[in-house]
Parts: sequence; structure tokens; C-alpha cells
Amino acid sequence: MKLQKFFEAAVDLGIQYDPREKKQIEKMLKKFQEKEKKLSEKEKPYFDAERTWNPYSDCRIINGDGSEEFTHLFVGVDIETPEMLLIDRLREKGQKIDGALIHHPEGRALADLEKVMPLQIDLLATVGVPVNQSEAVLRPRMDKIWRAIHADNLFRVERAAELLDIPAVCCHTITDNMVWSFMEKHICKKEYEDMGEILDAIREIPEYTMYAQKGNPPIIVNGSRGSRVGKLVATEFTGGTNGPEEFFEAKARAGVGTVLSMHVTEKSLEEAKKHHINIIQCSHMASDALGINLMLDEMQKKDPKMTFIEASGFIRVKRKTW
Ligand SMILES: [Fe+2]
Ligand SMILES: [Fe+2]
Repeated sequence: MKLQKFFEAAVDLGIQYDPREKKQIEKMLKKFQEKEKKLSEKEKPYFDAERTWNPYSDCRIINGDGSEEFTHLFVGVDIETPEMLLIDRLREKGQKIDGALIHHPEGRALADLEKVMPLQIDLLATVGVPVNQSEAVLRPRMDKIWRAIHADNLFRVERAAELLDIPAVCCHTITDNMVWSFMEKHICKKEYEDMGEILDAIREIPEYTMYAQKGNPPIIVNGSRGSRVGKLVATEFTGGTNGPEEFFEAKARAGVGTVLSMHVTEKSLEEAKKHHINIIQCSHMASDALGINLMLDEMQKKDPKMTFIEASGFIRVKRKTW
């Protein structure tokens, strides 16, 4: 498969499993297309044409023009300069590696991370939080993320990829949307006596099994094994990065009892305690690996020749359906 084809298929999957309606995403893209038409000569060089077709600001090709072969992949949750060197070393030893599939964003995908966060408004709406409430508390959090990332050394990984001639693409919210859908369907929709039963159910999913066997199991960070569950949601799985801690109060008002998450900030945990919301931290790496696997299953259907080297937190588990 070619890199551009791979990435376009990935964006389609992100949209298919997005918490928002497809129509709503199309409207958003249309706005950028209109904006592009009206640009002044002075503004043209600064406009990001990517935004006219790809709704995921934290997903993009960070090295390559798209025409590169992208069939034998090195896949990792975090791929930075050390992993780029590892790819180069493995190539030197004779391994066939066309390029890198990265989960956590790098380069411009990282620079624009906060722009994907409004997805959280619609995600919370699915569990009953009014959109006006989540929007009001999300904005200041987005500004904070923007300022924090703005000071980073953003393009070192993409430069390493360029120097070593390694085509690379970041797929972040795309695969997080997929793992969110998976958790909603396979964990949240079922009935549980207590929190302990949820932990056991999560641990039976192969990615979580493997991580649990290595000492990184799903854990309860608020509540206990015997706690009642109430309304169970997976609202902390997609949307760029952690939302504002005020979301926990909003979720409590919307009747949420237990939240599944990949990772929780200390401030959010404090808020969850204040509002009596139970939290299960499901293993960050196992969760990200699961999302990547769901995407790669679809890619392999399109091109059965594809191969994947597991690295940097990623473990490959194949599924026919889910
Ligand atoms: Fe993720
Ligand atoms: Fe992650």
C-alpha cells in the first residue's frame, strides 16, 4: 500500500468510529474549504490545506509526500528519535521496513493537538452532558494545552525521519476513536454487580491480558472492587488529551457513576472523588495498542501483504470482527 492511500483509509476509519455524526464532520470540513477560497495572498502560505479534508489535527503524515511504499511497518505508541535510530539499525541488519506508524502525535500533528479537543464536547453529549456546559469549560483547557505545547521542540522527530529517509505518519485520535467504540460496545453496554467484575472483563481482552501478565493491569483509581457501578462510560479514551477536571462534576450531574480511562490527572482524580465518580485506569499502553490493532485489522483486509513490527508499547493482536 502507498502511504497516502494508507492515511486516507485511516482518516475514513476515524470518521466511521467518531462520536460525532458524519454530517457534522462534513460541515466542519466544508467551513475550511470555504475559508481556503477566500484567503488573501498574504494568508495563503499559512493556511493548512490538510484541514479541508482531514478532521483530525493530531493525525498526519510527518515525513513523506504520500507516494512512498508503506506495506512493511514499524509500529509504536511513541516513536521518537531513538526509535528512528532503531529502525535504521534494523534496516541495516536486513529487516524490510518501509516506514513508521506512530500513535502519539509528533511534528505538526503535535503542534495542532488541542484543535481536535472539541470532539470531547460531542463525546460527553453522548452520556448526557449538555454541550454548552462542556464547551464552556473545555475552552480554557484547550488554551492551556496550546500554550504548553507551543514551547516544545516540535519538529525534532520529523527531522530525524527525514535524515534517515523513513516515511512516517501519526494516527492518534483515529485509533482512539476505534478503541472508544470498542470499549463502549464490549464493556460499557454490559451489566456488572460491582467494579471488580469490570476489571475482570477488561483483563480478558488480549491486549489487557498481556499487559496485566507483565504487571500493568487495569486498576481502580477511585472506588473499590466491591463498589457499585452505576452508569458506566468510556469518556476518557479519545479527544486528543485529558479534558478539564470540571468535566467530572458535569458527568456527575449527568448521572455518570463509573468512568473508564487510559490515564487520569491528579486534579481530575480529586474532582472525581469530590463527586463520587468511580474511575478505572485501564492501562494506557494496552488501550492504545488495542486501538491501533483495530485499525491495522482493517488495513490488512485491504492489503494482506502488510507486516508489522511491534515496538514502543505496541503489541499486535488480530481480530476478524468485533
Ligand atoms: Fe491514545
Ligand atoms: Fe495514548
